[in-house]
Amino acid sequence: MSKLWQKDYSLDSLMEEFTVSNDYILDQQLVIADCLASIAHARGLHEIGILNDDELGALELGLGDIIKLRQQDDFPITKEDEDCHTAIEAYLTKQFGEVGKKIHTGRSRNDQVQTALRIWMREYTLKLAHLTAGLSERLLAFAEHHAEVPMPGRTHMQIAMPSSVGLWASSFAEELYDEAQHLMQLSWTFDQSPLGSAASYGVPLPLDRQFTAEQMGFTRVQNNVLYANNSRGKFEAMLLDGCEYIALTLSKLAQDLMLFTLPEFGYFSLPKELCTGSSIMPQKKNPDGLELARSRSSLIGSAAMRIKSIIRSLPSGYNRDFQDTKEPLINGTKATWQLVQIFMRMLDGLTVNTDALLAACTPELYATDVVLRQVQEGKNFRDTYKDVGLHLDAVTALDPVKTILDRSSIGTTGNLGLDEDQLFVSLLKSGCEEVLASYHVVYEKLCGLEGVETVLY
Ligand code: ARG
Repeated sequence: MSKLWQKDYSLDSLMEEFTVSNDYILDQQLVIADCLASIAHARGLHEIGILNDDELGALELGLGDIIKLRQQDDFPITKEDEDCHTAIEAYLTKQFGEVGKKIHTGRSRNDQVQTALRIWMREYTLKLAHLTAGLSERLLAFAEHHAEVPMPGRTHMQIAMPSSVGLWASSFAEELYDEAQHLMQLSWTFDQSPLGSAASYGVPLPLDRQFTAEQMGFTRVQNNVLYANNSRGKFEAMLLDGCEYIALTLSKLAQDLMLFTLPEFGYFSLPKELCTGSSIMPQKKNPDGLELARSRSSLIGSAAMRIKSIIRSLPSGYNRDFQDTKEPLINGTKATWQLVQIFMRMLDGLTVNTDALLAACTPELYATDVVLRQVQEGKNFRDTYKDVGLHLDAVTALDPVKTILDRSSIGTTGNLGLDEDQLFVSLLKSGCEEVLASYHVVYEKLCGLEGVETVLY
């Protein structure tokens, strides 16, 4: 197979190895998105008279075939091809001859890869927002179920104030909701078409960029053709930053669970199906999944950082360095996807040990409550604080359940506000579903196939 840019010499094989790297493997993720974008581009060329009806028909047919082949995991891309863009054009030329050589009119691989990535990221972002909102919803159900189970609240890891399993679980639910919401905002940023920007400077053909953007279901064109290329890597980093916030939340949840499932705490337990064993110590039941959640969160953060380091000093316009942003994007987003799913599984299997939690509510937990009771009877805070602090032995435990349920301020154990949380989460989920369904309509209008997905984890 010759390269798209091949003329009268062959590339040095070591240089080929170095420049192609694993891009041809990663590009399997982009095949479907690129075919959809290529159909939009072909329709744009037809609009301005560069392709006739038959030629457009042949290209649509061929690109639809490639989508089907990729769905069956049967569209090979070789190192010699360099990338999916080359493999797709080569397939079209082989199957349909002359017209395959026309599809690249007015575009560069630079806007081609940007457009495929944009379609892919747009879909991934909404899918992750939906999945994350689903985990949030699952945590809210868990919180509701255990809203009346007391749990020691800790600061500096030490016993602090009365809390509940409901407060603990819904804190993560609300955090994840905000992160899913942030992804929705990012999806708006990603919802602009770079197609038609070509190598970075547009082309002297009257391409109708608005038309092709609409064909692909973008609400707008990414206006400035140079910016359209310069945003490569930047949008990927924004997405991975969004992923990292989720990973940060789940890393904290993992850390809490590791602590609270220790036999010394015993607040919660994980089923053995979610734990691994030791090759030497027969008694071990290790929370490897939680530990790896902690380290994956760092991998996801470093994926964002890797991309920012690559783009930091690049001059304007396409630079081949951009290619190296693809691996952190694909791997970091996949790790996030798995991370959210694994927590769904853990939550389903988590047992709450109410007796251990009640036993952990020792008298010291109530010291501040005792002070504030006396304050309500008319004493001043500071003197009472000192008095109780100097006579801690005299503090006896209060009724643990009554104590948490008596708290009335919004967002506290007695007034968790779960109904409102649940409403917001379900609105966010249906918002994602609506937009994702609209993408299916767009894809079907482009290639005639139902249920096409561009993200293939
Ligand atoms: N695989 C390349 C990438 O991901 C495609 C673009 C190549 N463009 C070029 N001018 N060499 O960036």
